[in-house]
Amino acid sequence: MYRLLFTLVFRHMDPEQAHGSAFALIRLAARVPVLRSVLRRLLTASEAGAVRALGRTFPAPFGLAAGFDKNAVGVAGLAMLGFGYVEIGTVTARPQPGNEPPRLWRMVDQEALRNRMGFNNEGSVAVAHRLRRLRSTSAGRDLVIGVNIGKTKLTPAADAADDYATSAERLAPYADYLVVNVSSPNTPGLRDLQSVESLRPILVATREAADEATTAAGRPAVPLLVKIAPDLSDEDVDAVADLVLELGLAGVVAVNTTIAHDLGPGGVSGPPLRERGLDVVARLRTRLGPDPVIIGVGGIMSPGDAREYLAVGATLIQGYTGFIYRGPFWASRINRALAADAAAVAIAGRASSGVGTGTATGDVRPGAR
Ligand code: FNR
Repeated sequence: MYRLLFTLVFRHMDPEQAHGSAFALIRLAARVPVLRSVLRRLLTASEAGAVRALGRTFPAPFGLAAGFDKNAVGVAGLAMLGFGYVEIGTVTARPQPGNEPPRLWRMVDQEALRNRMGFNNEGSVAVAHRLRRLRSTSAGRDLVIGVNIGKTKLTPAADAADDYATSAERLAPYADYLVVNVSSPNTPGLRDLQSVESLRPILVATREAADEATTAAGRPAVPLLVKIAPDLSDEDVDAVADLVLELGLAGVVAVNTTIAHDLGPGGVSGPPLRERGLDVVARLRTRLGPDPVIIGVGGIMSPGDAREYLAVGATLIQGYTGFIYRGPFWASRINRALAADAAAVAIAGRASSGVGTGTATGDVRPGAR
């Protein structure tokens, strides 16, 4: 059904316009109470798939990756569609328009996208204000929200640490986790900040600013992760992992879009990323050991892809491009399949330990994965 709609309608629209219209519809649906509760009931996976990580229970392991909801305008609607969590952003300290269009292209034959959006967003003051309002309701506090921050384009690289710290200070009190994004290809020089000498002061300043803000707000410290590019060499992936351990960070989001293509400017997402994404996650897990969280992302289109990321060591997973090609029920399909896996494992575990099987979902401990 969605494939037909995509082929007949969305495919002929400008990609950014299609994104805007589809997102507006989702937000509209979320404002109609009956529709919202029916969709939520139909699309939410069972508790069997819940994952305990980063100090919170994620109702389901598959979430929406950064870039779709840059300004946190539609988190409730996206959760209604079955995403276990939403990573908003990238938010920069100051508002900025992003690059001139065209800046988003489809590669339909590969179900891939190429973008050079350039962090178009309303800036950390406006987004913090919106999150504060959202968190003032109990439904808003129930949502699991990651906040992804990046450098303002006009800020020189030498002042990057201050720029990230400014965003962290404003946004940390409303985030379940915070991601330092140094890996988008569309802000000149940003990816150079992944080198350990540049990254260390940024992470230290971000950590301090976030801690001050959460302490002042009477909130627990927010877990801090760093998001990396698939184009890093293996040695550089190891170096980032070592820095995460040295600084005691919560983990890594891997991977962002790739510039390893000859299709023009911007980063490619979707299936062409999957193989390298899996390699990077596996490498990180070996280097980091069992504890730090790895959020695996890149080319997840199906439950099978999601399972592969979990099998090589991801704690949580997320995606973006599949939403465009597979439609509004995509996240729900993946999370329901993973919940069924978790329920089957729990039942098998109880059977082999001689404990009664009980219900399929009711007494499975979150985080059993
Ligand atoms: C992105 N991505 C992204 N990542 C990020 O950290 N900040 C951002 O602002 C954006 N913006 C963005 C825009 C568009 C149009 C796309 C397609 C992607 C990258 C995204 O979060 C993810 O890491 C990659 O897209 C890989 O996942 P998928 O799309 O293959 O599931």
